Amino acid sequence: MLYRLQYPIPSLPFYSASHNKPCTPDILHPDEHRLLHGASAKRIGEFCAGRYCAHQVLERLGYKDVSVLKNLHGAPIWPAGIVGSISHSKEMSIAVAARSANIQAIGVDIQYCEPPFPGQTFTALLRPQEIRTILDTPAELADQYAYSIFAAKESALKCIYGASGHWLEFTDILIDLNLTDGWFLLSIPSKRAFNVPGWLGRVYFDGAYVVTVTWLK
Ligand SMILES: CC(C)(COP(=O)(O)OP(=O)(O)OC[C@H]1O[C@@H](n2cnc3c(N)ncnc32)[C@H](O)[C@@H]1OP(=O)(O)O)[C@@H](O)C(=O)NCCC(=O)NCCS
Repeated sequence: MLYRLQYPIPSLPFYSASHNKPCTPDILHPDEHRLLHGASAKRIGEFCAGRYCAHQVLERLGYKDVSVLKNLHGAPIWPAGIVGSISHSKEMSIAVAARSANIQAIGVDIQYCEPPFPGQTFTALLRPQEIRTILDTPAELADQYAYSIFAAKESALKCIYGASGHWLEFTDILIDLNLTDGWFLLSIPSKRAFNVPGWLGRVYFDGAYVVTVTWLK
């Protein structure tokens, strides 16, 4: 059995848009072209697809013809009153956005789940408790579980950056994942100041991709 959560899930406080192929620069806002300076063909394709998704979610929030530039740390700059996030993996790109009146910060990550999960590379990014949970998971689900924890961490890092301006380490974050219900809990054991109530995490699958969204109410 593989986990197959359906999406969209009703009553989430954000909009999302995804796109399943690279895009060309003609979809960009004129101000966004300069962000492509020196970029490879692959990077142009994913950047444009991510911006295409960002424009779509912004339109649904009532913002048309708005650029999404980036700050010195690479984070997207959203219009005042909006929080959002962008991710790419393989052929897919996704953007999520919401009104900051509803949520304080949001992060998204998408990962193509190509088994086996490259455990050797990523073990250093996981906490011992997360590794134990992956090892205790039935073999046929372990890769999905591992990719989901990894994606949850990436979306959490983006969300925490949006909320605080701080970029934490992967191992600062502990993900407690419930794949059956499609939720994860997030805690930051080594940094008590970040453990405010209100972190929420959602995980779902779209074909061979896992998508995680972390937000702070
Ligand atoms: C940011 C990072 C997690 C991206 O992960 P990835 O799996 O390679 O790529 P993804 O496609 O999921 O995400 C890329 C998107 O993340 C967003 N992003 C980049 N930096 C970000 C940040 N600091 N906060 C939130 N979002 C960020 C961008 O929108 C980017 O897409 P774009 O350049 O097309 O706009 C990864 O590159 C990383 O760990 N970088 C280190 C960042 C760092 O140390 N920053 C210091 C800030 S103080």
